[in-house]
Amino acid sequence: MKKNKNNINIAILAAGKGTRMKSEHPKVLHPICGKPMIRYILETIKGLTVKNIFMIIGHQKEILLKTLSEQVTPVIQDKQLGTGHAINQLETYFKDQNGTLIVLCADTPFISVKTLKGLLKQHHNSRSSATVLTCRIKNPAGYGRIVKKNGEILKIVEELDADPDEKNIDEINSGIYCFETDALFKALKNVQTNNKKKEYYLTDVIAILHSKGLKTSSFLITNEDEIRGINTKVDLAWAEKYKRKEILNKLMLSGITIIDPDTTFISENTRIGADTVIYPFSIIEGENIIGKNCSLGPQIKIKNCKIGNESEIFFSVINESVIKDKIRIGPFTNIRPQTVVNNEAHLGSFVEVKKSFIGKKTKIGHLSYLGDSIIGNEVNIGAGTITCNYDGIKKYQTIIENDAFIGSDSQLVAPVKVGKGALIGAGSTITKNVPAFSLSLSRMKQINIENGANKKFKNKKQENT
Ligand code: UD1
Ligand code: MG
Repeated sequence: MKKNKNNINIAILAAGKGTRMKSEHPKVLHPICGKPMIRYILETIKGLTVKNIFMIIGHQKEILLKTLSEQVTPVIQDKQLGTGHAINQLETYFKDQNGTLIVLCADTPFISVKTLKGLLKQHHNSRSSATVLTCRIKNPAGYGRIVKKNGEILKIVEELDADPDEKNIDEINSGIYCFETDALFKALKNVQTNNKKKEYYLTDVIAILHSKGLKTSSFLITNEDEIRGINTKVDLAWAEKYKRKEILNKLMLSGITIIDPDTTFISENTRIGADTVIYPFSIIEGENIIGKNCSLGPQIKIKNCKIGNESEIFFSVINESVIKDKIRIGPFTNIRPQTVVNNEAHLGSFVEVKKSFIGKKTKIGHLSYLGDSIIGNEVNIGAGTITCNYDGIKKYQTIIENDAFIGSDSQLVAPVKVGKGALIGAGSTITKNVPAFSLSLSRMKQINIENGANKKFKNKKQENT
């Protein structure tokens, strides 16, 4: 068959059970810094020009299929009989054509596009039938070992099948290869299951090709982090730390101060303006845009938010909301989705806000719940104010207009509107609309009984003296 250097294809191995993860979830959907493992490799290969991207799936294929983008052709491996068997599922695609197949593992997320381009270039330049991406590592346990003679690869031996001498080899198989497809599929026909796992190993193809006199090469890289396979929860924790360091370094180099990178978690899709300071124990997840000169943390959890400039947030949780400029939030504020907090507002301790608009310079200092509400500018919400927005069936809106003052411990039974500049006396239960600039009170009238306390405390007081 004619060689065709432009017929370059990718196969991503993702059908395995991921037994060592000891999890009910597919291995390659475990998140690393909030992003499923599989997405890393899919984003990396966008940097290569290829004809087809095949993803071999099997175990929990329905869940995996939902997460794949259109760029990928799924190939089903019904029984997971080994990596060789997995690649063999592609045979029909290459029946009448020879091409180059780059084999990647979905559990090796940090391979760089630069390395893949280097591997492909060497594979073509050396006219090899197979090129294995390898690395020398300090602790090779768990990886396939590269057995070489005079610089050529003779075979790859899996850890379980290796003899003591082979176990001492420090050059390992990354699980990433380039193959010429005509040679690959012929060799796969000769792969047996005579190994400890009784599986069809893709790695055995190397010895078969070599024995036929075909050229098998290695492309050695030095950065072992790029090829580390994620097989266990220990590996997953390593991956999380590795990626987190990369994200935080990038942010710090762009002018963000991170007081303690070891206790700061920020997603890749978070943009932060210069001179914002992040204090320890802060978690920023999802997609966020954060402005300049903010002070965030300690101990905040923010997800999918837009935060303006010069705002201060500490010991608080904010989800899917917009926080504008020069706002003070915390300690212990809980801002729930669809909330907008306008410039210079203040939300203090034990304040919960849901699906509400908070106007400029409005103060909600302590112990309040505001849900489904529209609060104007420069409103003062006294401690213990509650919008009673739910009657057990439906949610209702509360509107508080500019400059209103809500006395402490008031309940606003929605739907209800408090007009501009109105004053609500402390301890009121407001069930009807309050016109602008009125004073509204709904508390019981106070009665004072002269010497009423003496009766009760007379004896006690005597005891105390
Ligand atoms: C494999 C290599 C090993 C290499 C290591 C690098 C083999 C036999 N061994 O070992 O030499 O050092 O990767 O990380 O190839 N898969 C399928 N179908 C199957 C079995 C596995 O699609 O039937 C997929 C898995 O989902 C995974 C990949 O192939 O993405 C590798 O399988 P895994 O079990 O992780 O192999 P390792 O033991 O890591
Ligand atoms: Mg693996």
